[in-house]
Formats: sequence, structure tokens, C-alpha cells
Amino acid sequence: MKILFIGMGYVGTTMGAVFANAGHEVSGLDINQEKIASLTKGELYFYEPGLQEMLVSQIGHERLSFTTDAKEAIENHDILFITVGTPSLEDGNADLTYVKKVAQMIGRYKNMEKTIVVKSTVPIGTTNKVKEWINEESTDPNPVHIAMNPEFLREGNALQDALYPDRIIIGSDDEEALETMHKLYQSWKCPILQTTAMAAETIKYASNAFLATKISFINEMAKLCDTLGVNIKDVSKGMGLDERIGPHFLEAGLGYGGSCFPKDVKELLGTAEAYQRPLGLLKEVEKINKNQCTYFFEKLKKSFDTLEGKRIVLFGLAFKPHTDDTRESVSFPIIDQLLKEKASVAVHDPVVHLSKDWITKGIKQYSDPYDAVEGSDAILICTDWPQYQELDWERVRHLVNEPSIFDGRNMLEANQIKALQFQYTGIGYS
Ligand code: UDX
Ligand code: UDX
Repeated sequence: MKILFIGMGYVGTTMGAVFANAGHEVSGLDINQEKIASLTKGELYFYEPGLQEMLVSQIGHERLSFTTDAKEAIENHDILFITVGTPSLEDGNADLTYVKKVAQMIGRYKNMEKTIVVKSTVPIGTTNKVKEWINEESTDPNPVHIAMNPEFLREGNALQDALYPDRIIIGSDDEEALETMHKLYQSWKCPILQTTAMAAETIKYASNAFLATKISFINEMAKLCDTLGVNIKDVSKGMGLDERIGPHFLEAGLGYGGSCFPKDVKELLGTAEAYQRPLGLLKEVEKINKNQCTYFFEKLKKSFDTLEGKRIVLFGLAFKPHTDDTRESVSFPIIDQLLKEKASVAVHDPVVHLSKDWITKGIKQYSDPYDAVEGSDAILICTDWPQYQELDWERVRHLVNEPSIFDGRNMLEANQIKALQFQYTGIGYS
């Protein structure tokens, strides 16, 4: 099948490559010339394990190409995936400007029967609106079939999640769209759930909201464990052995960030509010997550008379390991607080490079973690990159000024670290 992905971001690029890998003929369209130029050369412009290799192989098999020519691309494809961004507006609702623009663009260039697949995370009820936006703009009489096909891939694990998803959700009120979707996904082995477009939209938000709820629950338990002197990791393990609970997304730490959970939780709260069905539980989930950073920072502050002039090293800028994405990363609010306390801040991250703005604020970035910790008064772990576990902490012990570690991801082995004469502080773990 000939497929066009509109929006070559994390989701569009990953799914485009994966559908090409499944044997389909795929084109990627994006308004950003640089992204398309880079992808056309087979150069992935963001960090995602394994995707660079698949990109090059699918281009090599002439099953994957890229363009900025919307008219030509839309006219020559009858299956169009929408994967443009749906960032948050000031009020927390999702910004549908790009989705609407793309829908109107499809309408303008529509020249034959089309199947439109919404893959961007869009507020409940949007998929059917997309069809209206297309038809309002179009003079072509041929039918438009539309489906909602939410994406569940995690950054840093995108390729595996796209190739081997736990499930595929197909939401449509259009028989032909449903038939096309089943054909598109026929080589996938996982369960395919067919439902309405609105139910598919709701499944996406409810899934992210529930995962965020698990994280805020374990973070609240972690604070109680700090007071009780109980090890939250044992609590997570004990809970997770119950199949009804499951072991995943019970890692206590600095809370959730990224391009999805924060914005999707906000959006779902807004939608529920608009229908006078406020979601009290989710409101608390968001509040707990917002406070987790401050809770951790208070621990650091308490361990010093003042942070003024102290040399604080921050390990990790990405919102999670295995990605260079810093959207809603907790590292930056922490750096802001350190600057307010007039501390001198040094940072390290295996793949993220600090932007000029932060460097002009006096933040020093090191490419070698051992150089970063030299003469430090405290080390803060904000992103659980495996590299930090593998560090020679005995060597670090001899480089620091003060042997003090604040592990915001509970990733180090507390007893081993303490055996090296470090003070170790985790969250619900010490
Ligand atoms: C996107 C959505 O943001 C998210 O809600 C959904 O869950 C998955 O798809 P992501 O791939 O991470 O997430 O978005 P982003 O990396 O921002 O990529 C969007 C791409 O669309 C960008 O490359 C942007 O240049 C492109 N775009 C945006 C267009 O091509 N046309 C537009 O009009 C707007
Ligand atoms: C998420 C969803 O998992 C994915 O299905 C959806 O398509 C997009 O949003 P992503 O944001 O890439 O994916 O990352 P994820 O692995 O879900 O982590 C989200 C945040 O939660 C990160 O900040 C991570 O550090 C945090 N997290 C995750 C925890 O604090 N504890 C956990 O146990 C798991």
C-alpha cells in the first residue's frame, strides 16, 4: 500500500520506517525543510536507538522517501497518516492548529478517494471534526474515510514498541476505513481492538492518565516510606508481583515528564471539566507530580546551611534515558532553583547538549562525568541513564569535595554507595 505520513517527528518518522519495513511504500511529509533534508540523506535528526539503521535500510530498499511538496504528496497517496504535534495551549487544552491546517491542506489537494488516519493524540471528538475540516476545504466529490489509530510508543524504545506493540487500537465509524486499517496492520501479531473513533481517542488519554496515576501513586508512597524508613523499591516489587497491579511504572523518583504525560493529563482534565465531569483523582495525580521536584530539592537544601557558592553537579538532562528529548524534563526546573540559590551548576548528559540560553546563565556542561564531579559538593541524579550506574564511584569518591549523592531516580545501589563513604539520599530509598 502507498502511505503518506504528515509530520516527521518522533512518531511519524518511527511509524513511517516501520510501515516501510512491513513492505509498504511510504513517504514522509513535513513543513520543516531541514528535517526533510536530513532524513532524505538517511540522517536521523533526533536520538532514538535502532531507528537510524532502519531508516537507512528502508531508504536503500526504496520503500521510504521524504518530501516537503504537500500538493504532490497528497495527490499521489490514498492513505494519509496525520502525525503532527498537538502541544498544550496556555489553558492546558491541546493545540489543534497543526492538525486543522493539515486537514485543510488535504481538503485543498484532495483529488481522489482517501483514507485519513489520525495518529496524533487529539482531544476526544476531534477525529470526526478532521473529516469536516477536509470536506469544508475540498471541491473533490470522492469520499473521505477516517479512522483514529492512537500511538503508544515510548521514546527511547520507539522502534521496539512500534514493531511489537501490546495492542493496536483502530477507531472508526466507517466500514471502509476499518477494512483498510486491518489490511495495513495484517503483518502485526498483537491483538487489534476495533472500536469507535471517540473510544479510540479516549483509550489513548485514559492509558497515559492511568500510567501517570501509577507513577504519582508510587511517588506518594515513597514520601511516606521516607518518613517510615521503609525501602520503596521493596514496596514496588511486592506490589508488582500481584498480576492485577503489574511491575511496570512503579519506579519512584522525580516524577513524569516528556512530551506526552504532562500534556495529555492536562488535556483530559480540561475535556472532563468542559463536560462537567471533573476528574478529581487525576487532578491529584498532576499536583503530586508537580510537587515531586520541590520535595527532592528540599532534601538537598536541608543538607546544606546555604547552597550559595556550592558546586552542584546534575547528572541527566533528557526527560528519561535513551532519548535526547528534554520536553518537560524535570532537570531544568531543578537547575532554575539551584541558580536562584546562587549555587554553581555543572551538568552532564550522554546525548543532550545544553542550549545557549542555559550556558549564558553560567551552567557548565561536561562531556566526561568524571570531569564534571571534580571538586563538587553534591551530585544530583535526574535522569536514570545506565551510564551512571556503571560509573567507577570509588574514583568519583576521590574527585569530589563533599561525598554527597542525591539520587532522584533511586538508580544506584544505596549500600554499595554508602560503603564508599558517600552520603546517599534517594526518594523513599536510602
Ligand atoms: C506527535 C504528537 O505531538 C503527539 O501528540 C502524538 O502523541 C504523537 O505525535 P511527536 O512525533 O513527538 O508527537 O511530535 P513532534 O516531534 O513535535 O513532530 C511533529 C512534526 O510535525 C514536526 O516534525 C513538525 O515539523 C511537523 N509539522 C507540524 C508539520 O509537518 N506540519 C505542521 O503543520 C505542523
Ligand atoms: C509515554 C507512554 O509510555 C507512551 O505509551 C506514549 O505513546 C507516549 O508517552 P514516553 O513519554 O516516551 O511515553 O515515556 P515513558 O517511558 O512513558 O516515561 C514517561 C515519564 O515517566 C518519564 O519522565 C519517566 O522518567 C517517568 N517514569 C516512568 C517514572 O517516573 N516512573 C516509572 O516507573 C516509569
